[in-house]
Amino acid sequence: MSAVPVIVDSLVKAYKLGRVEVQALRGINLKVEAGGMVSIIGPSGSGKTTLLNILGGLDRATAGNVHIGNTVLTDLDPTKLVYYRRQIVGHVFQTLNLIPTLTAAENVELPMMAAGTPRGTRSARTKELLGIVGLADRHDHKPDELSGGEQQRVAIAAALANDPPLLLADEPTGELDSVNAKMVTDFLVKINRELGKTLIMVTHDQNVAKTANNIMRIEDGVIKSSLTPSQIASQDTSSSYLDQLRHRMSELEKQMRQLDDDFKTGKVSGDEYADQRLRLRQVKAGLQDELQRQGVIG
Ligand SMILES: Nc1ncnc2c1ncn2[C@@H]1O[C@H](COP(=O)(O)OP(=O)(O)O)[C@@H](O)[C@H]1O
Ligand SMILES: [Mg+2]
Repeated sequence: MSAVPVIVDSLVKAYKLGRVEVQALRGINLKVEAGGMVSIIGPSGSGKTTLLNILGGLDRATAGNVHIGNTVLTDLDPTKLVYYRRQIVGHVFQTLNLIPTLTAAENVELPMMAAGTPRGTRSARTKELLGIVGLADRHDHKPDELSGGEQQRVAIAAALANDPPLLLADEPTGELDSVNAKMVTDFLVKINRELGKTLIMVTHDQNVAKTANNIMRIEDGVIKSSLTPSQIASQDTSSSYLDQLRHRMSELEKQMRQLDDDFKTGKVSGDEYADQRLRLRQVKAGLQDELQRQGVIG
């Protein structure tokens, strides 16, 4: 299917945890042209996955609209959402989530079976897709017989099985070494350029982000800036990703201390204190996870 434009308008997502509400997205506006590619960067807990899950039809928005071509995603009923997820959008995740008992080819075929594609078409398309991601010779390999990078390429082929016009990738290189990360990124770019798929990719890796001409930086649930690859490059020299994480952690701790003070001195109400404190704690937990993944804290 030919590419679609994506328009996100004032998108809000609030999660209710008991009495308290966490605002994961606080009014996101984003436009991606048909066949365009956008990278989304931003600290842990800033709402990147929430945004992608709403675009992927896995989660529902609290307010605002998303238009995918002529489809108003935010208005779809559950039946139409199933069709949307199967035919309109392909979704690649950070964790390698192939079915371990199936071969590479069977993993790619699965979404086509769900869509009722005839067997002959399925196997021809599977061959074509595995070829596109450079894995024609891995047709009958099970996931544990493939490297992490190869598994992620199979996952990309599976996401493309039903020829969706929109491809979403959430930290697709998050679990890969830099060589495999580059290879996976190159295939995503190729799919965007040569197959014309609209591509929205979340990443914390600046080198991966730079492969898109448009880079959106999201912070605390809003888009803070729109950057070009050269602007990313200049940020890169000033501080590494780890430095940014550490900086963000110390800022967060400062914010928490300030909030405690504001509560003690009566500047914020009990309800607001509980709400803000919970939100900050969740962001902190996300940051701690990320630092742990980066091997900084045990
Ligand atoms: N299912 C959920 N229930 C409650 N809060 C959530 C849920 N999913 C995400 N959040 C919160 O929403 C915020 C954004 O999370 P997320 O979109 O996963 O961020 P990112 O992908 O940028 O790290 C965080 O504060 C997170 O704790
Ligand atoms: Mg995430």
